[in-house]
Amino acid sequence: MSLQAIKYDHGYLAILDQLELPFHSKYVEITSTEEGWHAIKDMRVRGAPAIAIVAILSLAVELHGLTNNGKLPPESLEVQEFIVERLRYLLTSRPTAVNLSDAARKAELLVTKCAKEETSSGQSVATAFHREAERMLVDDLNDNHKIGTNGACWILKNALLPGNTTVNVLTHCNTGSLATSGYGTALGVIRSLHAGDVLGRAYFTETRPYNQGSRLTAFELLHDKIPSTLITDSMAAALLASKEKQVSAIVVGADRVVANGDTANKIGTYGLAVLAKHHGVKFLVAAPCTTIDLKTKCGGDITIEERPAMEMTTVKGLRGNEGSKNSNVAEMISMQIAAPGAEAWNPAFDVTPSSLIDAIITEVCVVEKNSDGFFNLDILFEKP
Ligand code: MRU
Repeated sequence: MSLQAIKYDHGYLAILDQLELPFHSKYVEITSTEEGWHAIKDMRVRGAPAIAIVAILSLAVELHGLTNNGKLPPESLEVQEFIVERLRYLLTSRPTAVNLSDAARKAELLVTKCAKEETSSGQSVATAFHREAERMLVDDLNDNHKIGTNGACWILKNALLPGNTTVNVLTHCNTGSLATSGYGTALGVIRSLHAGDVLGRAYFTETRPYNQGSRLTAFELLHDKIPSTLITDSMAAALLASKEKQVSAIVVGADRVVANGDTANKIGTYGLAVLAKHHGVKFLVAAPCTTIDLKTKCGGDITIEERPAMEMTTVKGLRGNEGSKNSNVAEMISMQIAAPGAEAWNPAFDVTPSSLIDAIITEVCVVEKNSDGFFNLDILFEKP
């Protein structure tokens, strides 16, 4: 069975609590935008597409609750204003990923148009919002499957080493079912390679400081029985230099790809891209079009979220069952690992310049650089 990070059914929303993973699989219900905002801020849900979807669905369930309690205003304009205000609040949860602002902009446009219709009511505006939220959930899953296929084909064509029938790839952070509505972006590409019997091995970084790799990507790869190996972030250079390991592509996700192709993604991505260039390894970004922000010209204009120092100076783990597979008996604890009082800088993301990226894999197509060495991302939004 595939992993389900987001459960949604008309008026019901629950997320797999990522603070408890990989040790406990516990769903927490979300009934309001307030709870959605906190789930995002506290990283109970994370990953650019999942943040957007949970935020929008949290508003959908709040509206549902108001309807059931007879508290939904009858006037369309009142409901439209309420939705817009709640969307603006949700946008303050985390700043770097663009998917949430893209989703909020589309939802705002839709409800504003709907509220202006002559026959509209508070209920019809709420219903239009529900439909849009559900469409986003379904579209994201479908898009991820297309990204998987597009990415796997590109890698086979461009990164298969001579004489090999399978490829070994490296990925960073978590970009799978836990970070999206399902299947994943970069991890979706790895899933597609595996499904096509052309994946040798997926290497993945632990992804310090928050360990999305060792906690979440490991959980997903083990769940799907995909041949995989964990490395620390500091081992990436040695891995790429290894003749024996034969890694020929790095595939990562994105939180924001701007007009010139510069890409904000989990801290450490930029370093991997530099290493890839040095070792002649293909460096690929896999992301849906909802992650592409043509309004921002270059990476320097992206706001990078800084997270609490505590995420670096402590680690979370299980006490009471070291080495045992039975996590139910153990207690989750947080442990100080840095010298008490050490000051820390904790940017959650970095920006990889487009010059270091070989291709951007989307659900529409794989974008490569033109003959002048630039990405033209406009083609993704051209009407056929
Ligand atoms: O801080 P996080 O865990 O939300 O960061 C997630 C990432 O950087 C992912 O690589 C990115 O959002 C792409 S998820 C499909």
